[in-house]
Amino acid sequence: MKALILVGGLGTRLKPITDSIPKHLIPLGNRPLIFYVFDKIIDSGIKDIGLVVSPNNKSFFQDSLDHYDKGLNISIIIQEQPLGVAHAVSIAKDFLSDDSFLLYLGDNLFKDNLKVIVDDFKKGSPDASIVLKKVENPSSFGVAERDKSGQIIKVMEKPPNPPTDLAVVGIYCFSPIIHKAIGEIKPSTRGELEITDAIQYLLDENIVILSTELTGWWLDCGTFDDLLLGNQKVIKKIILDLKNQNIQFPYGSEIIVGENSKIIDSVIEGPAIIGENCLLQNSIIEKNTSIQSNSIVINSKLQNSILMGNVKIKNINLISDSIIGNHCNIESKKSHKGISKLILGNNSSKILD
Ligand code: DAU
Repeated sequence: MKALILVGGLGTRLKPITDSIPKHLIPLGNRPLIFYVFDKIIDSGIKDIGLVVSPNNKSFFQDSLDHYDKGLNISIIIQEQPLGVAHAVSIAKDFLSDDSFLLYLGDNLFKDNLKVIVDDFKKGSPDASIVLKKVENPSSFGVAERDKSGQIIKVMEKPPNPPTDLAVVGIYCFSPIIHKAIGEIKPSTRGELEITDAIQYLLDENIVILSTELTGWWLDCGTFDDLLLGNQKVIKKIILDLKNQNIQFPYGSEIIVGENSKIIDSVIEGPAIIGENCLLQNSIIEKNTSIQSNSIVINSKLQNSILMGNVKIKNINLISDSIIGNHCNIESKKSHKGISKLILGNNSSKILD
């Protein structure tokens, strides 16, 4: 079985940050989001992976693959235009050949074990399996309807009046029959070939679709708030893993500090992750904050934020719920008051009053 990860698309909902970095490479817990997707796929036992990228983002992904800490066998597939999830599958047909495959939308993060989902599909040998999760805002997702016996009877893409609260998660297993279904569907009103429509085509052909419901958390990282929530979840997991290995936290409970970082007259409240070669001076870092390597924070307070590498922050009263790109400089000449919520792409400079 192969895996196809989709990281194409334009990331329009996350502009301006996606002008300088694809959303899948935004660091959560100081590691690119996509690395957690790779981790899950490796744990599921799948080795042969295709990665669908947009032409503009190809080099970003190639560079980041060099930094992934485990071995990977990845084929990069270019999707010239973001014409939909099902379109992305269709252009990967040569890579997928006649194999069954796991389709993984690369902005999805979840807690459950992917291996169990993949193994259930293999054991049941159906043509398709989907993953569901009860949500409060089903109209933002694909939505599934089941009959009394739990069998999937209908799927629809972002319905304005959803009949159920069961969102379709961005993880699917398919036999090659899906290629025929994709060949039969037409673009949706948003102009995309929807994977949901291809699944509905299979249902209309009386093909059984297996389903499982996630028990743990699930995030589709399509908004800044989702990314910040993803950061929280990932930091918590990294710390839990270290605790399970009995690794000590010399800087205090649930605080990770990288090599050669200096913490001077500062307070850090965990869970938090500080990278290597950072300087924190006369500052307060509150929980759920991650700071990548070579960053400097002086006379400032941070809360629930993602700072990428080589960031400099000076004399800022409070930065909260923010995502700050690589090589950004934020400072105040006077004594800054109030709370700043910032979304900054790479190489931005901001002088606050
Ligand atoms: O996250 C789950 C949802 O993902 C499902 O509930 C929906 O049924 C499904 O259509 C999808 O909806 P989104 O609107 O969230 O999809 P999005 O445009 O965010 O794209 C999902 C991933 O696929 C993302 O990593 C970008 C990539 N992609 C997207 C398109 C449209 C591509 O690689 N190529 C594309 O053409």
